[in-house]
Amino acid sequence: MAKIDLGLILRPTSGYHTHPRIATSWIASANYFLEWEPEIVPSINSSTNELIADALRTDPRVAEARRLISEAIVDHAANVNEVRGPKPELKTDYQSMLDRLTAVRGAPPIWPYLSSGMGSGPFVELADGSVKLDFICGIGVHGCGHLQDGMVQAAIDAALEDTVMQGNLQQNPASLQMGEKLVQLASQSGAKLDHCLLSTSGAMANENALKIAFHNKTPADRIIAFDNAFAGRTLATASLTDKAAYRTGLPVTIDVDYLPFREASNPERSQRWAVDELHRLIKRYPGKHAAFWAEPIAGEGGYYEGTKEFFTALCEPLREAGIPIIFDEVQSFSRTSRPFAFQHLGLDEFADIVTVGKITQVCGTLYGKAFNPTGPILSQTFTGSSSAITTGLSMLEQLESNQCFGVDGKNITLGNYFRNGLEQLSSKYPSYISGPFGCGMMIAFTPGDGSFDHAKQLMGTMYDTGLLGFVCGANPTRLRFLPPPVVTTTQHIDLALNLLEQSIKTCFQ
Ligand SMILES: Cc1ncc(COP(=O)(O)O)c(C=O)c1O
Repeated sequence: MAKIDLGLILRPTSGYHTHPRIATSWIASANYFLEWEPEIVPSINSSTNELIADALRTDPRVAEARRLISEAIVDHAANVNEVRGPKPELKTDYQSMLDRLTAVRGAPPIWPYLSSGMGSGPFVELADGSVKLDFICGIGVHGCGHLQDGMVQAAIDAALEDTVMQGNLQQNPASLQMGEKLVQLASQSGAKLDHCLLSTSGAMANENALKIAFHNKTPADRIIAFDNAFAGRTLATASLTDKAAYRTGLPVTIDVDYLPFREASNPERSQRWAVDELHRLIKRYPGKHAAFWAEPIAGEGGYYEGTKEFFTALCEPLREAGIPIIFDEVQSFSRTSRPFAFQHLGLDEFADIVTVGKITQVCGTLYGKAFNPTGPILSQTFTGSSSAITTGLSMLEQLESNQCFGVDGKNITLGNYFRNGLEQLSSKYPSYISGPFGCGMMIAFTPGDGSFDHAKQLMGTMYDTGLLGFVCGANPTRLRFLPPPVVTTTQHIDLALNLLEQSIKTCFQ
């Protein structure tokens, strides 16, 4: 037993300690519990306007618990600093967990990934003892990498909230702060985005965006989107998504008209085609389109980048026709020179409704006053977990304070560094890798002949070699990377390029 300051007692524990006054689960995970001595409990002065909640948050025991947790994480994370293979003695147990996962899920996981719960920066330890360089991060979710102190501290803030989930009837100040922060970021260069509705997934954020647009333009019942669009997995967003396989056996719930996207190899012609097709659609279905829905940088569709000129050529006639514009930034948020890719492309004046998700931890739909629904069409029991909201707030703060944004910010400079490295690999192995594609910290390349088989094969080899990236697009299928912007360094990128080169040699030579 070790006595520590403030009268706290630190005891090793083998079980879950249920003391009512401390963040017990966090302490238990560090294999210690704290015991307090009643005489040192600060008394609450009920005559002041101090909230009991604030007294808890500022309680010295909480501060000490936080300090101990940070210290323990730093000590253990120091061992997760390089790629390594699985431990043979964990192989059987790991396989058995994967089999159970397949049985309970009813389908095998996309890849044999089960995290141990430990990580550091872009490195993650899996439950088979291997350590991978995670440059996909759950498709762009872990912007601060794995088990980062800022995120852990924010999760402790959430553990000190009275509810696990927040929602329509139970919003805490963190929900308010998150909504206000997203509105402030979205409107900082002129977009008229006044409101924010939080939700639990990107699909739900898009579902809400579509409801807002349909409500605003009732009885319009069609949407315009791009070829290869991906909006999520609800019935409405699956209808919008341009991939028939994702609708197998499902009814189409929305009529969608598709436009060709910009082709970097022939920008003038592709823009002319898209604009001509838009005019044809507007003429063919007058007053029938409730919205134009677009990702400024196509994500699942294959990392195709829009430009200001291309989008403006489409958005101007859309404005004239009174068709609202929705930008889906679920994947592109926080990856370019600005928080939003529509800002990076200078499209603020056209952003009527915007959705975010993934890296923000809690998802959201932003919209202007003019789109505020007049009927009760938006509501959710859960808008997000307390930890999604507090960690999301920390993520936004860290993206800004770590200079991820700006023309010389980390997203652009590290993205260019990575792209240069991929270009060099492409010149060295022209038959096996072409590209790169994407923008900022959304980076992709085309493996081999561009077939799904080649991409899947290389993705598997990269996985075994210790580098996590993931497929996107079709004809060609590409491999994409979404490195964690806050913690990625040029050394991590060099390691990724090295692992990729090893994988190319193993896979194709
Ligand atoms: C652009 C875009 N929109 C929406 C979604 C759906 O988000 P979620 O999977 O959180 O429902 C995704 C997910 O990949 C996406 O990339």
